[in-house]
Amino acid sequence: MPQVAFFEKKFVPLSEAKVGVMTHALNYGTACFEGIRGNWNAKEGQMYLFRLKEHYERLHKSCRILKINLAFDAEKLCQITVDLVKKNGYREDIYVRPLAYKSSQTVGVRLHNLEDDFFIFVTPFGPYLDAEKGAKCGVSSWRRVDDTMIPPRGKVTGIYVNSAMAKTEAHENGYDEAILLSQDGHVSEGSGENIFVIVDGKLVTPASCDNILKGITRETVITLAKNELGIDTIERPIDRSELYVADECFMTGTAANVTPVIEVDHRPVGDGKVGPITRKLLNLYSDVIRGRNRKYKEWCTPAYRSKKRA
Ligand SMILES: Cc1ncc(COP(=O)(O)O)c(C=O)c1O
Repeated sequence: MPQVAFFEKKFVPLSEAKVGVMTHALNYGTACFEGIRGNWNAKEGQMYLFRLKEHYERLHKSCRILKINLAFDAEKLCQITVDLVKKNGYREDIYVRPLAYKSSQTVGVRLHNLEDDFFIFVTPFGPYLDAEKGAKCGVSSWRRVDDTMIPPRGKVTGIYVNSAMAKTEAHENGYDEAILLSQDGHVSEGSGENIFVIVDGKLVTPASCDNILKGITRETVITLAKNELGIDTIERPIDRSELYVADECFMTGTAANVTPVIEVDHRPVGDGKVGPITRKLLNLYSDVIRGRNRKYKEWCTPAYRSKKRA
């Protein structure tokens, strides 16, 4: 099947979805985006798009921050995405990338008096971090951008230079992922993930005012922990050294799913193995995103026509 993108309000071959070199967003990072997973359920022959509507509601919020006029409401965006995923026809896990951007072919740093556009592409996408083994993390020498700089609650392309600096530093220092501190020295998040520690049987995670992206996976895990395991989550500032003494630690994100953190700054977290609560959350989450848990099926949008019953 040829790869198809949604570009300039039409479905086109991916090879024809191209922007010019003068595009404002390419020059100044004036775009915002989403990352949505399509999770392949081989048994059902179905592709489940996870929390599609919530991703598009967040995209609309990011657009408000950047003064981007997104031409479609969340419902229409969901419909376009389902159509696009159908046209591509993948039978493996995928990543859907919608991106709203300042499309004017012009020079000049600003957000106002510019045209906006939008595209979506789809690409096959396997595991991002090794959730079975767990991730070894290092606290970055780079600090998370502050709300007073570029608001991290918006998924703004320009912010990802901050994430990329931290990720590459972590990689070059032999870690799997970076943990960024905020300007005041508290734990903020990973380069593309939210972070949780488990202390005395409770989940603890930075609040949305700690310069995090308010993750959809974060919210999903908070809900699953409460509903399925009876575990509460406390949102509060976390010190760097709390990472060293936590019972368990894990990261959450659309790309990373639930990834256990087994080491921080060369110190084992707990006994250095995947912890029991993390394991339960990881298993629960894996079932939920593939439409294998009936209770949470409304979070999963099926993209393909379901198989006829015999
Ligand atoms: C910086 C950052 N934090 C957190 C997340 C996790 O958000 P979500 O669970 O909505 O994918 C992401 C991924 O989108 C991210 O890029």
